[in-house]
Amino acid sequence: MLEGYAPGFARDAVSMMAARQAAERAVFAQPLFVPGMWVVDVGCGPGSITLGLAPGSRVLGVDRDAGQVELARTAARRAGASTVDFMAASIYALPIADATMDVAFAHALFEHLANPAAALKELRRVLKPGGTLALSTSDWSRARLRPKTANVDAALRGHYLLRRRAGGNPFAGKHIADQVTAAGFTNLHTRTRYRQDLTYRELAKYIEDRLVEALNTPGPEADRDQLASAARSAWTWTRGTDGDFTQCWTELTATTATATTTTTT
Ligand SMILES: C[S@@+](CC[C@H](N)C(=O)[O-])C[C@H]1O[C@@H](n2cnc3c(N)ncnc32)[C@H](O)[C@@H]1O
Repeated sequence: MLEGYAPGFARDAVSMMAARQAAERAVFAQPLFVPGMWVVDVGCGPGSITLGLAPGSRVLGVDRDAGQVELARTAARRAGASTVDFMAASIYALPIADATMDVAFAHALFEHLANPAAALKELRRVLKPGGTLALSTSDWSRARLRPKTANVDAALRGHYLLRRRAGGNPFAGKHIADQVTAAGFTNLHTRTRYRQDLTYRELAKYIEDRLVEALNTPGPEADRDQLASAARSAWTWTRGTDGDFTQCWTELTATTATATTTTTT
């Protein structure tokens, strides 16, 4: 399946990503980092997490979108970060030699991938034997929204449809541990974490904007009625009573098998 990227790069989406910091988003991965390591952050976006990810290590931020890489490089220059580099590439074909990375990190990427198995195979390829994978992946099936009115439900269904149409899986966080195991990683540790990524009203507006944009862009005719109805529901949601929204994230660490030494006698 052709892979898109449902959030897009409008100002609200990019500034939401740019506000994310390693100190909050990558706490689960911090114990993995030791100065002098080689670390890759895939799907790094504007690089705000990448910059604080692993002080004292060489960190490479990779993103398929050249505009995001440019923003990340500018942020790195401003921060005077000399051990962090950025490059444009896809997770399916990383310009990184085999078995060279100590840690492969990705925050909010796997929910947008059409082929997580191929992505995990590529991360395994670049990790050293005994190297560590650290992923944080959202799961909309466990997001908490109160009140969850009929309009909220309808708007969310439209939101999920857009995610799936772009090749992603809005419930990816629910499946990521099984996929990582199937990809041959071991020593899995997962934990569920809830965060208020956006306020209840901000989420309504964010979803409404994506639905309206999708309706103004050529797409499958069969989806139009559902998207139009979801956009109306999102509009009503933006104007209704306020509420609470917390997103559910699956944070996972796992390792590649350590090299075994074979002695021949
Ligand atoms: C939701 S943003 C996350 C950015 C950052 N990691 C964060 O959490 O703030 C996902 C990023 O992944 C990038 N992306 C999507 N598909 C990709 C792929 N196949 N390979 C590399 N990057 C990809 C997008 O361009 C986008 O910048």
